[in-house]
Amino acid sequence: KRLILIGPPGSGKGTQSPIIKDEYCLCHLATGDMLRAAVAAKTPLGVKAKEAMDKGELVSDDLVVGIIDEAIKKPSCQKGFILDGFPRTVVQAEKLDDMLTKQGTKIEKVLNFAIDDAVLEERITGRWIHPPSGRTYHTKYAPPKVPGIDDVSGEPLIQRKDDTAEVLKSRLEAFHRQTEPVIDYYNKKGVVSQLHAEKPPKEVTAEIQKSLS
Ligand code: AP5
Ligand code: ZN
Repeated sequence: KRLILIGPPGSGKGTQSPIIKDEYCLCHLATGDMLRAAVAAKTPLGVKAKEAMDKGELVSDDLVVGIIDEAIKKPSCQKGFILDGFPRTVVQAEKLDDMLTKQGTKIEKVLNFAIDDAVLEERITGRWIHPPSGRTYHTKYAPPKVPGIDDVSGEPLIQRKDDTAEVLKSRLEAFHRQTEPVIDYYNKKGVVSQLHAEKPPKEVTAEIQKSLS
């Protein structure tokens, strides 16, 4: 399957991705995760992306399109993929179409994580992550067994630098202005499934499974 996950910050894309990925044997391509790894490693890409990310603005289309173009060709992605956080602008969506047309494939489903903005601040400010594995926790909704420690590896959890109420405002603004038009773009193609992303994680998973069956 070739899937896109679209939704505002904190809507649950990164929480659902590992579950869906394992169930359907897909690769998980999350541009935010890839960019954060590049920032941490101080690669040329990371250096270019850092300023926009810290402010909660989108990085340039060329940078992220380059990352996806390279990743999507990998053997592990040939059976299918989940795009989490990409495309986020109509230009990115058009470039993705070009890439897939060249491969003779196309997007089968766009999962729209619909949710009210008011719920997101609590989700974002309570989030803790384990970057090496991508595991995500929440102080209230998905607490680790030991606070600040990853359940599986015993390694420390961290909070994202952009997970403040202040930066969230810019991220939400970018979502409404630049990413919501992408949902319309795919609505015209008739491939969008709307999820009730405010429901508990297991119910959201069930909705996704239903829409993919
Ligand atoms: P990115 O990493 O993509 O961040 P985002 O879109 O803001 O999304 P999040 O990762 O914050 O939310 P999520 O939906 O994954 O939520 P999660 O499942 O973790 O992008 C970061 C930055 O990189 C951007 O601002 C931009 O600068 C740059 N960037 C990335 N891609 C780009 C692109 N294509 N173009 C340009 N720039 C790009 O859940 C959140 C919390 O809620 C967790 O604690 C979780 O445990 C909890 N939770 C999840 N589901 C539920 C539920 N159902 N009920 C209760 N709690 C829940
Ligand atoms: Zn995420």
